[in-house]
Amino acid sequence: MTLRLHPCAKVNLTLEVLSKRDDGYHEVVTILQTIDLVDDLTFEPASDLVLVSDQSEIPPEENLVLRAARGLRQSLGERRGARIRLVKRIPLAAGLGGGSSDAAATLIGLCRLWRRDIPVAGLAAIAAGLGSDVPYFLYGGTALAEGRGERVTPLPPMPESWLVLATPPTAVPGKTGKLYRALAPSAFTQGEATRSLVRAIRSGEAVTPSRLHNVFESVAGRVFPELDRYRGAFRAAGAPVVHLSGSGPTVFVLFSSPAQAAELRARLDAAGVPALVVKTVASPYNRN
Ligand code: C5P
Repeated sequence: MTLRLHPCAKVNLTLEVLSKRDDGYHEVVTILQTIDLVDDLTFEPASDLVLVSDQSEIPPEENLVLRAARGLRQSLGERRGARIRLVKRIPLAAGLGGGSSDAAATLIGLCRLWRRDIPVAGLAAIAAGLGSDVPYFLYGGTALAEGRGERVTPLPPMPESWLVLATPPTAVPGKTGKLYRALAPSAFTQGEATRSLVRAIRSGEAVTPSRLHNVFESVAGRVFPELDRYRGAFRAAGAPVVHLSGSGPTVFVLFSSPAQAAELRARLDAAGVPALVVKTVASPYNRN
């Protein structure tokens, strides 16, 4: 028996920092959306927990997938193992939440493999211990996240949209922490952009580019050397406003039609900037 899941990447439609907390984290409000850029995770019964991965950069021991598997096994008092195979397609450390999504899918996949019927709420604490974004990926779709990102409220799916996405090829170790530390308190907001977009999504309105907001927009250029070149290429290709996803460096432009997205992608391609067209995903695992 082999069980297969496709953990989705996400983008942040909004990401606001309200304050710095005493525990070193920041209080955020963010609206997340899964997209159909996916990794491939398979699970097979085995006596031990084993991860086989196509990644050479990250030692398997440190991989969030194995940490998720071990944490789940311990919390369930489960004695069985699993052979987990991970094929990465979501760029690493890119602001797309790939590692967090793999970790959440591991929790869901192993519960299915071991036939343990645990509700999402029962996995939330393990997920939050793995990373601030991991609980969101237990739900996917359109959702509001608060606290350090681990408090998740699912929202109605945003209207189907297409995104042109590009990831500058820059590896910056520990970049999420670096970007948070680079924020001046003057960048903090009251969360109004997020609250207003939550209201719009709840009333079925379109998510227009002018509603998107990311606190890291102004500091990311200093941390990712290639980002300004990418922004310039988007401008030259006819997309004056691009948005950063999470703590970057991935940037995206949102469209309501696939044809417009394909046109922009083709112009970027001609300019030597590799980009993808992806679509929003409303419900990756059909559970809530
Ligand atoms: O939770 P996660 O491991 O994704 O966070 C990585 C780093 O990003 C944290 O160690 C912290 O420095 C920073 N962070 C933060 N506030 C958040 C989330 C992350 O300061 N809400």
